[in-house]
Amino acid sequence: MFTEEQIKNALEKVIHPEKKENIISLGIVQQIESDDTGITITLLKEKASDPFFSSIKSNITKAIKDTLGSDAVVKEIRVIEKSKPAEEIRAVDDNLPGVKNIIAVASGKGGVGKSTIALNLAIGLSLKGYKTGLLDADIFGPSVPVMLDVKDFRPQVKNINGKDIIAPLEKYGIKVLSIGFFVEPDSAVVWRGPMASNFLKQMLSMTDWGNLDYLIIDLPPGTSDIHLTLVQEVAVTGAIIVSTPQEVALADAVKGIAMFRNEKINVPVIGIVENMSWFTPAELPSNRYYIFGKEGCRALSEKMNVPLLGQIPLVQSIREGCDTGRPVVLDSNNPASEAFLALAEKVVEKVSERNKNIKPTERVKIN
Ligand SMILES: Nc1ncnc2c1ncn2[C@@H]1O[C@H](COP(=O)(O)OP(=O)(O)OP(=O)(O)O)[C@@H](O)[C@H]1O
Ligand SMILES: [Mg+2]
Repeated sequence: MFTEEQIKNALEKVIHPEKKENIISLGIVQQIESDDTGITITLLKEKASDPFFSSIKSNITKAIKDTLGSDAVVKEIRVIEKSKPAEEIRAVDDNLPGVKNIIAVASGKGGVGKSTIALNLAIGLSLKGYKTGLLDADIFGPSVPVMLDVKDFRPQVKNINGKDIIAPLEKYGIKVLSIGFFVEPDSAVVWRGPMASNFLKQMLSMTDWGNLDYLIIDLPPGTSDIHLTLVQEVAVTGAIIVSTPQEVALADAVKGIAMFRNEKINVPVIGIVENMSWFTPAELPSNRYYIFGKEGCRALSEKMNVPLLGQIPLVQSIREGCDTGRPVVLDSNNPASEAFLALAEKVVEKVSERNKNIKPTERVKIN
């Protein structure tokens, strides 16, 4: 197995034929992974087609072999199209001035896949070249430590100029903070509302996110004090509502949309994501079984006049990705990964439309 440093050194020998610079310093190499089975490299490509990518790919394979020896196997070179930069529109008086867009992921009903979507969306945005953070704000059942296999991670708190600062975890290209990093797995549930809200406030004010294009916030289910604390503490650019196509979930999704649209809260709803749209078994990849009903979220999106951002299938590999700490969006040969990348693209497009057409969100002020 090779280290990231060794692989980087090899990749520095690959020169872009037109730009005459190596692909590491050009920032084309987005991600390097190496395990016992080989090396996987993810490249970022500008939207306008770059005719040199196929020669870059073969030069990578050659440079790896030449530098690291014939044992070095390039398992895969994945190319992801780079999107345009996210624009800046948030109000200047806000907390988190380095964050351009704050996106809350919510649902009416529990267990519909908020955390799964929030995490794969965050990594998808990062794969597309955006600086992205993920805050797991589910005080009562944080899932991100398990979904990223970082259960034992404890963030460092540093005192800088008299202020305590928390450094987030960095994994798979995103910055991550979870309430689960601070509490023992079973203790969070006994917290009372005000304690949980205070904790969220502290996490929002103390974390060093640096500059981010998108901060994704994974919320607890329903409409809780945590939601209210969030919109008081920061100006949320927009909310994404997750639902399954099933009637009971849709009814609750309506409540979630209504909460953000409430005139006192006034956070634009960027769109709905339908999760578990159909079941597809791995051995029958073109079959779709509409277990929870068909197109329920499309109907809801038309009724509530909210865009449908994507439909994510119910597949075993998504569940496995959650349990093993390697989110499925990272696996290029998995169709579910394409679904999450398409979702990321749509989110970028809709957030950008929102920023052009609607004035910046204001924080909710409680008198
Ligand atoms: N599209 C999918 N295919 C397969 N499994 C999925 C899919 N989406 C979510 N799951 C699985 O369903 C379970 C619930 O998902 P998740 O934890 O993301 O829901 P949630 O809405 O965040 O739940 P909570 O309301 O408790 O926060 C998880 O075990 C996850 O692995
Ligand atoms: Mg969750």
